Amino acid sequence: MTNRPDGESQPRETLWQKGSRPNEWVIKYTVGDDYVWDTALLPFDVRATRAHIHGLGRIGVVTEEEIRQLDDALDKLLIIWRDGEIGVAFEDEDCHTVIERFLTSEVGPAGAKVHTGRSRNDQVLAALRLYERDTLRSIAHTALDLSEELLHAARRLDSWLMPGYTHTQRAMPTSVGQWYGGFAETILEDVELVIFAANAVNKSPLGSGAGYGIPHIQLDRVGVAESVFEGRLIHNSTAVQLSRGKAEALAVTGAAQVALTMNRLASDLTLFASQDFGFIEFPESVTTGSSIMPHKKNPDVLEIARATFHRVNAELSLLMSVGANLTSGYHRDLQLTKGATMRALGATQDTLDAMSRFVPHVSFNRARLDAAVSAPMLTAGNALKSVLEGQPFRDAYRSNTQAEGRPGADEILATYKTAGSPGRTVVELLLERVSELRRRLAEP
Ligand code: ARG
Repeated sequence: MTNRPDGESQPRETLWQKGSRPNEWVIKYTVGDDYVWDTALLPFDVRATRAHIHGLGRIGVVTEEEIRQLDDALDKLLIIWRDGEIGVAFEDEDCHTVIERFLTSEVGPAGAKVHTGRSRNDQVLAALRLYERDTLRSIAHTALDLSEELLHAARRLDSWLMPGYTHTQRAMPTSVGQWYGGFAETILEDVELVIFAANAVNKSPLGSGAGYGIPHIQLDRVGVAESVFEGRLIHNSTAVQLSRGKAEALAVTGAAQVALTMNRLASDLTLFASQDFGFIEFPESVTTGSSIMPHKKNPDVLEIARATFHRVNAELSLLMSVGANLTSGYHRDLQLTKGATMRALGATQDTLDAMSRFVPHVSFNRARLDAAVSAPMLTAGNALKSVLEGQPFRDAYRSNTQAEGRPGADEILATYKTAGSPGRTVVELLLERVSELRRRLAEP
């Protein structure tokens, strides 16, 4: 194979080459780092290509025998791609070229028919949308597993008192269960958006060609959409091209919400682990060390997770702006949406995986937490108690600015009467919601 990702650089024919080849620097500059992303995108393009070939079969452009040969060649391509024997080098321009070239070299004339009724403009969108849909669904699955894990911890530790903060100042008592449950429920809100985004991008652009439809040949757009996009289709060919960047921004918005929740979770855990707090501990196996201070156990996983949100947000910002001011129709500017999308979704997935691995190692120190709930944190509670005794709240507020001594954890938590408060953390309802979201993911 000549087109290994690490292969020798050598001029190759582009799909669009008619006579002389452009200067090598033109290819190099316009491809940029896109070939790296196209290497990862190749199997998604293969799925869309297979559906397109079968669609061509249904309208008689390729024969049954040619379909069989092309299917076999695509299977072979996937195997050698998985083994790292084929990839996209910058000289190839893109994965679309690699696939067509491979099919032509494997099966000859049938390979040369595959581009009938398509353009790289709809091809790249099909591959990207499949990548986005599958990655978002996988993010949703991992997020639901994490939410469930947090809910189990919430149930176990709802009677453990801990300080709640506003402005990073001690504010009111809360419970460890309430803290865990808060992140669990937030993740469920994020998953709603992730599922929405996955379904929104799950629409076939195939058959729209370069952006202006396909003359003469009546493609089976609906049948192709059924085989790879669960029957969903973008109807208008102009809309297909207008969607580039917008669909990606929506996909990354879903992921960014998850990344933001991981950022907040990582911030809490980092603070709680500081020796001055001493609320939590985790084993050395999930920390890193210092080259100069032998005693250090650093929470780098949490810090990288926290910082990743900013990367995702930067990619989102690029996605929101790269299509702006462009006239309708394809522009090569839009190529930049690919790396941004894949970097953002990949980083979110990695961060979610890392946080899911980290969280089970966290153990809370009950005594430290209890001791940190100091008497002044009960002033609001004391004022509210006086309301029950008939005092207007503002008067009670003014006469309860100090509190000395405090009751035990159980007594404090027993003062909460409303579901969703510390000690009354909602778990079962949210576990049901986890199951419902899993069902929605299984049957979109
Ligand atoms: N790499 C290109 C992209 O991502 C593929 C589409 C190329 N189309 C074209 N008309 N040059 O946009």
